[in-house]
Amino acid sequence: MEIATCMNVNGTTLLLCVLVFCLLRVSHAAVPAVYVLGASMVDVGNNNYLPLSLAKANFPHNGLDYPDRKSTGRFSNGMNFADFFANKIGLPTSPPYLSLNSDATPPITGVSFASGGSGILNETGKTYIQVIPLAQQINYFSLVRNKLIQQLGQSNAQKHLSKSIFLFAFGTNDMLAYFNNGSTIPKQYTQQQYVDLIVSTFKGLLKMLYGLGARKMVVAGVGPLGCYPLKRKLIKDGECDVAVDFWSARYNDGLKLMLRDLKSESKDMNYVYFDMYGAMTNLFQNPKTYGFTDIKEACCGLGKLNADVPCVPTSSYCTNRKNHVFWDLIHTTEVVASIFADLLYNGTKKYAVPMNVKQLVESKFCETEKRN
Ligand SMILES: *[C@@H]1O[C@H](CO)[C@@H](O)[C@H](O)[C@H]1NC(C)=O
Ligand SMILES: *[C@@H]1O[C@H](CO)[C@@H](O)[C@H](O)[C@H]1NC(C)=O
Ligand SMILES: *[C@@H]1O[C@H](CO)[C@@H](O)[C@H](O)[C@H]1NC(C)=O
Repeated sequence: MEIATCMNVNGTTLLLCVLVFCLLRVSHAAVPAVYVLGASMVDVGNNNYLPLSLAKANFPHNGLDYPDRKSTGRFSNGMNFADFFANKIGLPTSPPYLSLNSDATPPITGVSFASGGSGILNETGKTYIQVIPLAQQINYFSLVRNKLIQQLGQSNAQKHLSKSIFLFAFGTNDMLAYFNNGSTIPKQYTQQQYVDLIVSTFKGLLKMLYGLGARKMVVAGVGPLGCYPLKRKLIKDGECDVAVDFWSARYNDGLKLMLRDLKSESKDMNYVYFDMYGAMTNLFQNPKTYGFTDIKEACCGLGKLNADVPCVPTSSYCTNRKNHVFWDLIHTTEVVASIFADLLYNGTKKYAVPMNVKQLVESKFCETEKRN
């Protein structure tokens, strides 16, 4: 109706009207769903359904600060990045794909395919016996998509998917696999070749998702992995492993370039890259600003920096989770996940490029409206 009124007036007013129209529309349900693909940073329970998997967190002390102290399978003391992200968007956390009844209609607000220990490469996570690699997560998504088409019809399903956000949190396990003690990957690839392989594999799979209707990609880079307790504990005085940090940054550089290329090849796609490396380095450099007193040691675990043993029922844990960056040897605390979700959703270009998620939601939505 607003558009029709605007048609009768001059160009300037028309522009203003379109803008107002967009703002009005954005205020309600601009994003119908969040589809989550990733590893443990965003796993909300898929691995609970993998009987053989060693990458699990559905036991104490995980979930210590979750409602009812429940161990849900999240690798966190409380909620994780996927929870806070959905909350920012105004949607419930997308439930684990494997928790859904295979006969039922999947929730219209999104599904999570994330699996702890998994990677972009099929080979990543083999040491955990059973994980869901990105390619398989996409296979599962295509099944959800088929049901969506049955439910909404081809055209409405396509509209739904083009407005939905696809959140990716991958790369940590792929990268760490190279540096694992006893890894055979260095025998097959140089570090640069391996980074390139991960990035090009990721690109191929993102294109596949584009082919399935995804248009809004939100992609997290990896953190400074050499500063995670798991790596710090191997270095004198608990300093960061600079080689691991260097290759983490190189992977992120490749990822950023790849996303830019992908966008230039598929003009109606939009993305946000989240610079987790920069965001976490900022926490390390300004711990007091955020109330952190410990940036090196894991809260839950045993041994050096509490990083010799993961967070299992026999591990000890810190009394104040709010002043630790790391929950266990490789995962952040709930409070860090919350800070990251804030930066990604509504932060400056420093950590969310080329735009933040709030802008992604608004800009693309209006482009779609104008074209129709
Ligand atoms: C990875 O696994 C999927 C099955 O989930 C398979 O279709 C694909 O070809 C595999 N990719 C590679 C590079 O082996
Ligand atoms: C790596 O593995 C070898 C042989 O399994 C072992 O002797 C060595 O201590 C390990 N190094 C580290 C840093 O864990
Ligand atoms: C986004 O950031 C702006 C400026 O920093 C702030 O005023 C606004 O409240 C934030 N909005 C949300 C939804 O967080």
